[in-house]
Amino acid sequence: MNRNISPSLLSANFTDLKKDISLVEDLGVDRLHLDVMDGHFVPNLTFGPFIISQIRKITKLHLETHLMIKNPDKYIEEYAKAGSDTIIIHFEASNNVIKDLKEIKSYGKMSGIAINPDTDYKLLKPYFNYLDYILIMSVFPGFGGQSFIESTIDTMKYLVNNTKNHNITIGVDGGVNPSTIDRVYETGIDVTIVGSALYGASNVKERYLELINEK
Ligand code: DX5
Ligand code: ZN
Repeated sequence: MNRNISPSLLSANFTDLKKDISLVEDLGVDRLHLDVMDGHFVPNLTFGPFIISQIRKITKLHLETHLMIKNPDKYIEEYAKAGSDTIIIHFEASNNVIKDLKEIKSYGKMSGIAINPDTDYKLLKPYFNYLDYILIMSVFPGFGGQSFIESTIDTMKYLVNNTKNHNITIGVDGGVNPSTIDRVYETGIDVTIVGSALYGASNVKERYLELINEK
């Protein structure tokens, strides 16, 4: 089966975003990963709904919005209206997970939850019925270009095995590169998020082919 890669725009060139989006569209990806950081839940700031609505105008790709923000309930509507297709809240940041996931669905969007490397992955079980997507963080969120945390392989195996009776896509975010990607896909997960290892490569096409194992 083909490897599904979701390029993270965090490592793209924001002065020429259209070019960097077309580049990965031409490679055949079907989704893009948008990292929203608020400077509170994570010690870094990126962009918000205004930029996402601009991105929405220039691509038809599925947009997965990774909200690394406190009190996500206050902003779900804005991110839905900006044109996200999947909205991912952080388990650690939500005040009421089921309420937030239901709200995401109420806008006709796919509901996602992200889980940090040190959070007990078994705590997600009660939410499987409300989820379309689980994003396993394989680094602590906040920055691109960090090293992959090996212990998260156990999280991947557990969640792949325990969501078999649900229609949930499982993504892995952080430190995915040519030397870690094989082990990640071996766990049976569906999507990997790749930022620096893709956009930081001197030849993005070659790197993409290497990552999907077709080189
Ligand atoms: C980290 C972000 C990631 C990041 C991944 O906080 O959630 O999506 O862009 O970047 P790389 O692939 O460089 O680890
Ligand atoms: Zn992310």
